[in-house]
Amino acid sequence: MNSNPQKYGVFGDPIHHSLSPAMHKAAFSNLGLSAVYDAFLVKPEDLEKSILKAKDDGFCGLNLTIPHKESVLKFDFISPDPFSKMVGAANTLRFSSNGIEAFNTDAMGALLALESENFHTDGKNILIIGAGGASRSISFLFGLRKNPVKIVNRTAEKAEKLAVEIQEKTGNLNVSGGGFSNLLPDIARADIIIQTTELGMGKYENVSVFDQLESDLKNENLRVAELKKYLTPESVVFDIVYNPAETKFLREAKAAGAQTMNGTMMLVYQGALAFEIWTGKKPDISVMKNAVLKALD
Ligand code: ATR
Repeated sequence: MNSNPQKYGVFGDPIHHSLSPAMHKAAFSNLGLSAVYDAFLVKPEDLEKSILKAKDDGFCGLNLTIPHKESVLKFDFISPDPFSKMVGAANTLRFSSNGIEAFNTDAMGALLALESENFHTDGKNILIIGAGGASRSISFLFGLRKNPVKIVNRTAEKAEKLAVEIQEKTGNLNVSGGGFSNLLPDIARADIIIQTTELGMGKYENVSVFDQLESDLKNENLRVAELKKYLTPESVVFDIVYNPAETKFLREAKAAGAQTMNGTMMLVYQGALAFEIWTGKKPDISVMKNAVLKALD
């Protein structure tokens, strides 16, 4: 080991749950790179000075998580790449002679995760559930890629507003937004359904989006039989939640016959893309995945 390891880290609040240190340390070690990666609890009001201190301390790169992904772009010393600028959120900073550059690897992480499971996305109808920060990046990427995209959210106006913004910024007029009132026909029309809300985790562990519908799907006994009318064996249902490994929503979709995947590989690929931005080297995906699974165990 070299006596001057390169410094990396993740800023968030809360941060104790972060799997990024385990994942990145495994990737650095696997490539024989001398680097440290730590998690830092950074309050929103301390973000600016913490980034500047990291720069002074010789950090090479940082990841940003909740609640810093959007606020980081308000600092004039940050240079966002075109995609993070368009989305208005960044999860990766690179410190170099070019200053402090910001990138957003969340959306591409989701895309690579789908592709890694052989779920191809070109031209596919995408349904995105949720219109918060996580939805935003993913919705913009599919908007840019000219997919037909429907965004549905409990608060319909938020999804409608996001859809208009994506239309305006990407020129893709095939992006629309709405509430949950047509969720079942929306599901039937979609090739790929991406769940981006916190339903299924934490205090919502026993809740799926179907619990929120005014329909037969509200009745759990009828639910899977009813869902079979809308989901097919070709439907791909992706929940970006990775803990628990199978949300109630994924369980129901799988029972109704759809192909399902959770958020583990999105977490891994967004990390792998950040790693590559910092080091110029491709990390071993399976090493990162195993580190995540071990940390979740
Ligand atoms: P994130 O960065 O994780 O996306 P966020 O920006 O706070 O977090 O967005 C949370 C998303 O989860 C929103 O789409 C939110 O719906 P609303 O815009 O209607 O609030 C959704 N969400 C959170 N709790 C929910 C619940 N109980 N039922 C349905 N949707 C919920």
